[in-house]
Amino acid sequence: MVDVTEYFARTRLVPVVVLNDAAGAGPLADALVAGGLRTAEVTFRTDAAVAAIERMAEHPEMLVGAGTVVTPQQADEAVAAGARYIVSPGFSSRVVTHCLQLGIPVFPGVATATEIQMALDAGLDTVKFFPAGQLGGPASVKALAAPFRNVKFVPTGGVTTDNLADYLAIKAVLAVGGTWMVAPDLLEAGDWAEVTKRTAAAVAAAKG
Ligand code: 3PG
Repeated sequence: MVDVTEYFARTRLVPVVVLNDAAGAGPLADALVAGGLRTAEVTFRTDAAVAAIERMAEHPEMLVGAGTVVTPQQADEAVAAGARYIVSPGFSSRVVTHCLQLGIPVFPGVATATEIQMALDAGLDTVKFFPAGQLGGPASVKALAAPFRNVKFVPTGGVTTDNLADYLAIKAVLAVGGTWMVAPDLLEAGDWAEVTKRTAAAVAAAKG
């Protein structure tokens, strides 16, 4: 099994995908790989999520995860479709417990110290910090990371190529996530060239 945390430590970027039509999933996977990224969090914000995960997971180089997973049933559907990790916007004991039983890596969202302690209690050490920008950005990540020396964060929400280095410079930040590389309007328009361009720019910025 791929160590997803290791994988994130290398890529440092997690594109958050909202696809309305699963037909775009194949070209999107190609566009991300062409830009230098081999993972994507496909969100359960649309009815196309399961089919989109299936199609993206067919790409031999992609490590596909499922995002916006808020029920154990969605986790089951995601895993059956080929998802290799699960992300939630908040902390759900039901979803986390279920994922641990399934043996699939899970990254719950946290916004407070209390939620970080809930993740620790569940045996997790890597969390999504959401919505990062709105919660105070890098300064908030630093403040929350201080008491939790072994916790790793994936700030998501309001991250762009212009500010990602501020997050990635923080030792506790494993990777950053967001939609800017795969903005919904680009996916709607099938503008794969622009997805590749934004992805390549983000990859370059992440390397510093
Ligand atoms: C998510 O679901 O992770 C966020 O909606 C991503 O936020 P962004 O659109 O600001 O990148």
